[in-house]
Amino acid sequence: MSDLESTLNQIVPEPAISRRPRGGPQMILVREVVKRYVADRAAIDFRGQDISIASGEFVFIVGHSGSGKSTFIRMLLREVLPTSGQIVVAGHDLARIKASKVPLLRRNIGCVFQDFKLLPTKTAFENVAFALQVIGKSKHVINTQVPEVLRLVGLEDKIHSYPHELSGGEQQRVSVARAFVNRPPLLLCDEPTGNLDPQTSLGIMRLLERINKTGTTTLIATHDQEMVNFMRQRVIALDEGRLVRDQDRGVYGDVN
Ligand SMILES: Nc1ncnc2c1ncn2[C@@H]1O[C@H](COP(=O)(O)OP(=O)(O)OP(=O)(O)O)[C@@H](O)[C@H]1O
Ligand SMILES: [Mg+2]
Repeated sequence: MSDLESTLNQIVPEPAISRRPRGGPQMILVREVVKRYVADRAAIDFRGQDISIASGEFVFIVGHSGSGKSTFIRMLLREVLPTSGQIVVAGHDLARIKASKVPLLRRNIGCVFQDFKLLPTKTAFENVAFALQVIGKSKHVINTQVPEVLRLVGLEDKIHSYPHELSGGEQQRVSVARAFVNRPPLLLCDEPTGNLDPQTSLGIMRLLERINKTGTTTLIATHDQEMVNFMRQRVIALDEGRLVRDQDRGVYGDVN
């Protein structure tokens, strides 16, 4: 920071919302987006606001219940279309992408949810393998990559266990393994530690951090105040659908 800048900051504090743009190639651009599920109320209202996330970033999305975190994540997946505004993911303008190209987009986005969403009749191996089968990977690739990714998440000895035979933390590890097995450039997580105790949550967060360090852009919507404060990563805070803070090495802050 120049002397002039620091002097100016003493007189007029930098608004908490401001953040220096990153240098790397852009993974996500959200521009002036509004999402209304019902006519008279916006779930997201980013008019006059943009969010830019560079490739390789690790970002927390925080905010009250109902502030729009899940809507934000679902719009990035193109499960929900914005009412207006522009969303660009990995160079694709989601409003212009052809319906036939949507599966390809989703293939490049790993997802982790609070409730794990594992198939109950399949083992850990089969749950992860399924993600590769549906995109036509060979048996050889499956038999190599699935054990490797289950080892990465520390489940090498539970490879043939069914979800009901696993703890919540172990089930979430399977779901992280499934999201990551195809090495997606983008990982979206909606309350990934919402059902887990603090120690187990820390394990999952460490795992997501390791995955991020391989170059995967990682976005995590969470209520986990302690975790956000501990990790000191970029924090995007929403309040009633508005972006109220975008901060590098941020904390959870006064959102709940
Ligand atoms: N399918 C839907 N139809 C109508 N309204 C919806 C729908 N999904 C979400 N909403 C509304 O949009 C707003 C934002 O919801 P959203 O699920 O994005 O919040 P959230 O921040 O993820 O909350 P939580 O922390 O409870 O998961 C809320 O007012 C919610 O009631
Ligand atoms: Mg939610």
